[in-house]
Amino acid sequence: MGNFKLLTPLNNEELTFRNRVFMAPMTRGRSKDQVANELTATYYAQRASAGLIFTEGTQISAQAVGWTNTPGIYTPEQIAGWKKVTQAVHEAGGLIFAQLWHTGRASHPDFHGGELPVAPSSVPFNSQAFTPEGIKPSVTPRELTIDEIKSTIADYEKAAQAAKDAGFDGVEIHGANGYLPAQFLEDGSNKRTDEYGGTIEKRARFLLEATDAAIRVFGPARISVRLSPRIPYNDMGDSNLEQTYMYAVEALESRNVGILHFMEPGTLPEGAKPLAPGARQRFSGIFVLNVGYDRKSAEQALQTGLADAVTFGTLFISNPDLPERFFLDAPLATADASTFYSGSEEGYTDYPPLA
Ligand SMILES: Cc1cc2nc3c(=O)[nH]c(=O)nc-3n(C[C@H](O)[C@H](O)[C@H](O)COP(=O)(O)O)c2cc1C
Repeated sequence: MGNFKLLTPLNNEELTFRNRVFMAPMTRGRSKDQVANELTATYYAQRASAGLIFTEGTQISAQAVGWTNTPGIYTPEQIAGWKKVTQAVHEAGGLIFAQLWHTGRASHPDFHGGELPVAPSSVPFNSQAFTPEGIKPSVTPRELTIDEIKSTIADYEKAAQAAKDAGFDGVEIHGANGYLPAQFLEDGSNKRTDEYGGTIEKRARFLLEATDAAIRVFGPARISVRLSPRIPYNDMGDSNLEQTYMYAVEALESRNVGILHFMEPGTLPEGAKPLAPGARQRFSGIFVLNVGYDRKSAEQALQTGLADAVTFGTLFISNPDLPERFFLDAPLATADASTFYSGSEEGYTDYPPLA
């Protein structure tokens, strides 16, 4: 490998990333009362040598909450909590985007005083929710009214403004993993017959309006959108994934969105066509790939032009200095899955850097 591309800088009109080893967004369940704290700041600052950090999913409103002990970004206390984080990351020389999250139907009545979670349509589905009392089966959600959809888009804009106030360098719209924007996009979960459902254009409207809301605050170069067409998590499905997602990618391209964060496993089910190359071809901004990459496969994706950067999830949990380890081709620590989603310092801030 003559020229090791993972450790070379990357830039767009507004941002310069010091390398292409980005940190994937990861829910860690350590924000008591939904507020990021000193420990959160330590955790992210330890990982500030990433070219860019995406925070864990961060709820844009009370309605958006759907996972226990996750942080929000819609109250003054939450903004103050995140300020500690962005300051610590910036002092360590890093860049950090907040991942804006609305869980939609993937939430649970336990988060809403017994009321149903909301979704594009009231369609039964088969999944699980991480409630304060543990994992529970998902429930059939309630359909959002048009007025509620409009106010949810306004919540995205308020959350983006809150992220700006908290010192974030940008935001990511979480359009992946079967949460609310994906629920609108895919026809398995969207049965609406109004302007937010039916044709691909109408199903994509929610994702695009949420993106436009964030663009109004940050401008397009500081926006990332995360998509995961080939990941059926949360019982997702669409009758024509390729058509649906290529439309979405073209619409993001036409908005000059800075980053497209595309999740696609290297190994797909028999007969499933990879969609990353088509997305890459249609998008002229920074194209970031994820799922299952290591030093070698990530470098290969950069060398072949399939991606501009790669996000690493579990490897960043256990290797806070991952870019340096990649540079040195040093041994990597393995993450302990039992402390992924809950706990304290253990399995969070106690993975040491190289001696
Ligand atoms: C503990 C954990 C929490 C995660 N939380 C989120 C999240 O909040 N938002 C998101 O978009 N993806 C989330 N993911 C998915 C990761 O961003 C990433 O896609 C996944 O770990 C695959 O990348 P990897 O193979 O490098 O680990 C999470 C993954 C893990 C392991």
